[in-house]
Amino acid sequence: MRDDLERILFHETTILARLDELAEQITRDHLGKELSVVVILHGGMVLMADLLRRVHMPLWIETLTASSYHGGTASKGVVDLGPDGLPDVKGRHVLILDDILDTGLTLATVKKQLIESGGAEGVRTCVLLRKKKERAVRIGADYVGFEIGDEFVVGYGLDFAGRYRNLPFIGVLKDEVIRGELPGKGVE
Ligand code: XMP
Repeated sequence: MRDDLERILFHETTILARLDELAEQITRDHLGKELSVVVILHGGMVLMADLLRRVHMPLWIETLTASSYHGGTASKGVVDLGPDGLPDVKGRHVLILDDILDTGLTLATVKKQLIESGGAEGVRTCVLLRKKKERAVRIGADYVGFEIGDEFVVGYGLDFAGRYRNLPFIGVLKDEVIRGELPGKGVE
């Protein structure tokens, strides 16, 4: 799988060191509060495991499936929420965890739903990566691991056509792989 990458952006040690900092910040900001963490699947699951084990306070973990890519490398502009619907967050302080802030559509949709339909008391957002780009959707993130350029990345939970999520580092995928030019790789 390493051969499919053009270059590595963040090694595991770099990611984990940054998670130590983020976890400390999150713990400090939520002292004395009852926190529900809503993890966006599937991309947020590796971040969830490594980040939340560093957050030293009682918290509840909920999950939500959201997809807007459907196997490709660009958002289709519509966010599908999974069949299980919203977790119960009524009156709770919520932290949404996602792998990456790209167009912002996913975070904006989930945040709006958790407040308007879910009745959350307050919602903050945390992403491992934020792409530096102009966004039609105006949404920031309260906690950001790293800012990156506008290129397609995989690893550490991020996939291309379902693959590469288990890479322990984050890298930029080769164009040939995205175009499906390497045998047995890419999207049909
Ligand atoms: P939006 O555009 O809604 O994107 O902010 C959020 C979701 O899209 C996926 N995404 C990516 N997945 N490499 C990936 O593997 C990328 O560069 C990338 N950009 C966006 C991701 O699932 C994220 O939650």
